Amino acid sequence: MNITQALIGEHVLILKGLEFLRIARNKIEQNQHPPKLFFQKAVPFFRNYADKYHHYKEEFLMFGFLAQKKEGQLDLEIGSLRHQHENGRQFLTRLERSINGYEMKNEIAITSLLENLASFISVLSRHIYREDNLFFPMVEHELSVDEKATLLKQFEIEEEKLNKNNPIENNLELLKEMEKLIDMDEE
Ligand SMILES: [Fe+2]
Ligand SMILES: [Fe+2]
Repeated sequence: MNITQALIGEHVLILKGLEFLRIARNKIEQNQHPPKLFFQKAVPFFRNYADKYHHYKEEFLMFGFLAQKKEGQLDLEIGSLRHQHENGRQFLTRLERSINGYEMKNEIAITSLLENLASFISVLSRHIYREDNLFFPMVEHELSVDEKATLLKQFEIEEEKLNKNNPIENNLELLKEMEKLIDMDEE
């Protein structure tokens, strides 16, 4: 497996989570009220899996490696991807802050949750599209076979460490729970 294939595989799970968020957003737009617990599962899934696991590997391993190799030529592209990761973190933190008020049906909290939910979905969806279709193909083209092997090795070492603190099974479980909570609500 090559480096970008592994990251694209992770995108598939993140996109699944985004799909559940989209259902939740549509419901709120129709004045329905998905359970608080759904958001309490969604926040750690996106924080632990999408950010601390997936974005971490992109930023600290892949972007770092590329920036060094290309000596600044990719700064703009890498900078914009980093900026979108950071945006996502902020939307998620703000969304988390509105969960309790949302549960109490406070209109300001509901609006804040909806606003950050919509922004999060939109920015991250475009981000993943750009990585899958533009950035990753460029990475595969730019790196030599040896460089890819080095990077893949670093990914494996780092994944093992990350998995110890933040086991992948827990994140998959969160994703399943999100699905159940959003489906249950539809019945
Ligand atoms: Fe990314
Ligand atoms: Fe990504």
